[in-house]
Amino acid sequence: MGMEKYNNVDGNPSEYLYPPEILKRLNFDKSPATFKPKISAASPGEDWMVVRPLQRSDFDKGFLQLLGQLTSVGNVTRKQFDERFTSMKQSGGYYVTVIEDTRISKLIGAATLTIEQKFIHNCSVRGRLEDVVVNDTYRGKQLGKLIVVTVSLLAQELGCYKMSLDCKDKLIKFYETLGYKLEPGNSNAMNMRFEEPS
Ligand SMILES: CC(C)(COP(=O)(O)OP(=O)(O)OC[C@H]1O[C@@H](n2cnc3c(N)ncnc32)[C@H](O)[C@@H]1OP(=O)(O)O)[C@@H](O)C(=O)NCCC(=O)NCCS
Repeated sequence: MGMEKYNNVDGNPSEYLYPPEILKRLNFDKSPATFKPKISAASPGEDWMVVRPLQRSDFDKGFLQLLGQLTSVGNVTRKQFDERFTSMKQSGGYYVTVIEDTRISKLIGAATLTIEQKFIHNCSVRGRLEDVVVNDTYRGKQLGKLIVVTVSLLAQELGCYKMSLDCKDKLIKFYETLGYKLEPGNSNAMNMRFEEPS
């Protein structure tokens, strides 16, 4: 993954975390999810909506406030955001993907695919779905499905042999409709909690 600059939808130069073209290639017919009406990352159904990689300028488009609807974010400064963006981009394997309402230049949905490199399975790669959130005023309009299917197809496109997630019990059904399965004997999520990050 290079350090290319790509043009933003509104014409302003803005750097993407990963090349946006990959999202246009995703074939939504491969997903078991049903969309009514039919939408995809390339055609999200409204001309004011765009599905794209995170941009450096998204600090100003409410990205952290959106994540705040998922969990505690803390007081992340612009400098911290910028440094984390650079470090994610340099290390590769971070596919933070967002939905923007371009009418108001605000992010309304997000999900992250992280890619783990393995020695097993012939030096394969595994995907993990993280930090899924849709702005509460936009929920119930298929955007949760849209963003999760987008990063799941992205994992497949990038060669992952599987994609995993941890979720609250009440969301199991939601993820099942998108192709995720509780595997008998192999569906336990365990955590060891350390200090809360300051
Ligand atoms: C979970 C979340 C992303 C879903 O977003 P959304 O845009 O409302 O989802 P969609 O409109 O695509 O809904 C898809 C389906 O899942 C169901 N669903 C959505 N949220 C649900 C929830 N919290 N509990 C149970 N079912 C849910 C919907 O009823 C819908 O079912 P349908 O297709 O039969 O109508 C959103 O509620 C959210 O951001 N929640 C807070 C953060 C969070 O919990 N993230 C997930 C961490 S694992």
